[in-house]
Amino acid sequence: MVGAGWVGLCTAACFAELGHEVVAREIVPEKVEALARGEVPMHEPGLPELVVRNADRITFTTSMSELLERTRLLFCCVDTPPTYSGDADLSRVEAVVDELEQSAEHAIVMKSTVPVGTGRSIQRRRDGLGYVSNPEFLKEGTAVEDFLHPDRVVVGAGEASRAFGDRVAALYEPLGAPTVRTDVASAEMIKLASNAFLATKISFINEIANVCEELGADVNEVAAGIGLDARIGPRFLRAGVGWGGSCFGKDVLSLKQMAANTGYHFQLLTAVTEVNELQKRRTISKLQKHLGPLVGRTVALLGIAFKPDTDDIRDATSLVLAGRLQGEGAHVRAYDPVAAERARAVLVNAELCDSALEALDGADAAVLVTEWPEFGELDWAGEVKARMANPLVVDGRNFLDREALRAAGFTYEGIGR
Ligand code: UDX
Repeated sequence: MVGAGWVGLCTAACFAELGHEVVAREIVPEKVEALARGEVPMHEPGLPELVVRNADRITFTTSMSELLERTRLLFCCVDTPPTYSGDADLSRVEAVVDELEQSAEHAIVMKSTVPVGTGRSIQRRRDGLGYVSNPEFLKEGTAVEDFLHPDRVVVGAGEASRAFGDRVAALYEPLGAPTVRTDVASAEMIKLASNAFLATKISFINEIANVCEELGADVNEVAAGIGLDARIGPRFLRAGVGWGGSCFGKDVLSLKQMAANTGYHFQLLTAVTEVNELQKRRTISKLQKHLGPLVGRTVALLGIAFKPDTDDIRDATSLVLAGRLQGEGAHVRAYDPVAAERARAVLVNAELCDSALEALDGADAAVLVTEWPEFGELDWAGEVKARMANPLVVDGRNFLDREALRAAGFTYEGIGR
């Protein structure tokens, strides 16, 4: 693994679990030392256990020459953040390629999400370098599970790198998953198109939800009904306060920009992003409907992470909501079981609380942003009701028991219901 960040570390630990020998190279020495001690610097369920259990099969190092000496397949797991233009910043990928000496024995296996055509241009630049595209489809919070039970494995390789492609595919063989063998550009596109489609699916159901609110239908019922159509499928149809995270926004933008660079205007993806931005802000008008102007009101945000089981706050709806609430003059209290520490640097004007109850104390409204299980287990009818100044709940994930809350005297607003 070149890079022991989230992707590199999950991949390393899971390959080791399958019995493979892994060497993971990370440039930050402190990180290498911590990993060697079995300390995993991110919240990912099951990952620390795998790293510890397979410690004898994973070597962490800062040295590229150790990697080149001991391994033949170099999985590139560095990040490719968007630049201001919406193109992907490939400088870290290029730095990895530049570090490799000319060798017919080694292949670079691209795990990082890169624009379509990246493989082709790297191969043009480094003639003779083996190159395989092997995109990852891991979800934060369920990455270990996703890796060990994939829907499919994608391996893209050109004619000259076919043998390397065979070796990459063989690594995944114990998983028994369908394997798509294809060319490099198509593999690159499979990754981007998958994420763009999933983001589209969520934006679609969110728009259906918004129309349901106006027309008196219930989006949960609608999602269940359309999801049974095998052509649609039930997953990724949960309406909510918008999708976030480090991948969807970046990949939708990257695909859109890539198309634009060829002169093609990808209209659908423009709408998918815009719908999501509006969705993140809709909570404000739901609060105003019940509270009037929000100046001087206290709003408790339950959940900061972009989804449960992660401490990742990149592109999280909570950040947009906090900013908008403050813009309306409200006082924001926020609580998250694991993401609060990361949020401290970003939510500078919000009050970060140590518990949900502390955030709810004296609040004029509660907004459930992230469906952490513990929010369902709160004593809403008793302790929460007694503590809040006003019993108003906006359930941004349709997660709480609406009937129970209403019976307890709460004003309940869900999404699309
Ligand atoms: C995503 C892809 O799913 C994964 O395959 C890829 O490798 C990386 O990007 P991730 O960003 O970790 O994974 O999380 P995911 O579970 O896909 O959720 C993304 C966002 O969509 C979250 O904010 C989540 O709350 C939201 N979401 C998801 C919905 O609003 N509704 C849904 O039905 C599903």
